[in-house]
Order: sequence, then C-alpha cells, then structure tokens
Amino acid sequence: MNLTPEQRREMDRHYHDVIGGEYDQVILDPRQTASDILFSGHRRHLPRSGQMLDIGCGTGQAICRFAAAPARFDQVTAVDHSTGMLSAARRNVEAAGVAGVDFIQADVLEWLDSSTSQPCHLVTAVGFLHHLDDQQIRNVIAQLAARLSKDGRLLIADPLDPAGKPEPEAIQAWNRRSLAVQRGYTEEPEEPDERPIPASLMNEAFRSAGLDILHHSSSWEIFNHSSNPGWLERLRIRYLYHAGGAGIVNAWTLARH
Ligand SMILES: C[S@@+](CC[C@H](N)C(=O)[O-])C[C@H]1O[C@@H](n2cnc3c(N)ncnc32)[C@H](O)[C@@H]1O
Repeated sequence: MNLTPEQRREMDRHYHDVIGGEYDQVILDPRQTASDILFSGHRRHLPRSGQMLDIGCGTGQAICRFAAAPARFDQVTAVDHSTGMLSAARRNVEAAGVAGVDFIQADVLEWLDSSTSQPCHLVTAVGFLHHLDDQQIRNVIAQLAARLSKDGRLLIADPLDPAGKPEPEAIQAWNRRSLAVQRGYTEEPEEPDERPIPASLMNEAFRSAGLDILHHSSSWEIFNHSSNPGWLERLRIRYLYHAGGAGIVNAWTLARH
C-alpha cells in the first residue's frame, strides 16, 4: 500500500476506533501470561513515582501494569489518537485504581512536536513504534529520550524482525490450539501496513538518542490456551518462553548516559 503519512495515520486511527472495544479480548488476553514474563524483569529498573508519560497508550495496558499500586505517580499522561482505544483505557485504568490520568486524544508525533512536559521519570511506548516509518521511529525515540528526567527510564516494547530465524516448532505446535486462533474482531477494517522493526534500526536509534540498554527481554509470541490459565498452563508457557529464546517480541528498559 502506497500511502502518505497522513493517510496512514487516518487509517490507523479509524482501525483502532473500530476495534477498540474488543482489543483486550482479541490481542491482550491471549498474550497475558507471556507478557507478564516479558515485563517481569523490567520492574526492578522502573521508577514508581514522579511523572509518567505513556504514548500510544491504547487501552491502557502499560498504565495498568506499571502505574497501579504500589506505584504512586504524581501525574500520568496518556496520549493516543483513537477515541475507541481511549474509551477502553479510561475503563481499564479506573478498574485498576489508577487515579488522575490525563488522557490526551492527539497524534503522538504532533503532540511531541508541540507540547512540553515536566521531565518524566517513566516514559512507556508499548506496541507503538512499529506503526511508524524508520525516520519517525528515530525521531520519536530521540524526543522521548529528551523528555526523561535525570534518572528517568524509557520502556519500549515492539516486535523486532527475527531476520529469518524460524519460530521454534514447539511454539508453533502450542500456538495452534491457542486462544489467539479462536478469537477475532466482529468487524475489522483494513489495517495500515506495519512491520517488525529491524534490530539494526532500533539499536542505532538508541545509540544516537544517547540511550543505554539497562534490560532487554525477548521471546516469540506464545499464546494462552485459556482465559484463566491454571498453574500447569502457565508453567508450560514459561518453559516455552525460556526454551524458545529470543524472537519477535521485545522489550527494553533504557536510560540516558
Ligand atoms: C498496538 S496498539 C498498542 C496499545 C498499547 N500501548 C498496548 O500496549 O496495548 C498501538 C496504539 O497506538 C496508537 N497510535 C498509532 N499511531 C499513532 C499516532 N500517530 N498517534 C497517536 N496514537 C497512535 C493506536 O491508536 C493504538 O492505540
């Protein structure tokens, strides 16, 4: 698809407006156990107070995960261009008991260019950057780095191109019976192209933004078989996660040097 940046953004906004009410059920729930493992090692590096900024907040996953008690941020700002996703985020964040979140409906690129914020102790961008083109990814990472406080942390999670490395057979076999194959959207408009990000682009963007990697976790997509997995299912997912090694799903905690 040959789209202008404006057309891509409009298509993305419309897509997320339509699917916003079902996103958690279709996308987040089937990944819940693997995401918990992916993010668990990052927690000890992340601040729990001060200012938090979440860009491309979607349905509020990062806020519910990192700003709920015992964390106690003075201010959380959440930016997304989709009203559908923001409505779901408001419900989720309230249910998670996080108060005082400032939800902003805006294009993140325009918002970063035009707004100022106090230095942020925690900035999160989860599943957002792979919606952008290469130059936008470099610019946004530099802009987010510039918003960090002296001891601030930037948490990024995005798919990385596995560069031809095959998904392990055992994970493919497990995923064939997963919740992800059973669930789909009631209505799904055409999605703008998005793709896993080349590792070289990410590493170069971190370097030129003056960011050091404090923690990196990586795995393949591993889906739950049930919505409330018991200990045996969680143990199997944990085993596949570690046995499968690095893959397409990636998260980094970064700090300025
Ligand atoms: C894959 S979802 C991830 C949402 C959430 N961070 C999560 O972890 O589940 C990507 C989100 O980015 C938003 N988004 C994509 N491009 C955007 C842009 N240019 N400006 C603002 N929001 C954008 C979409 O509306 C969507 O909510």
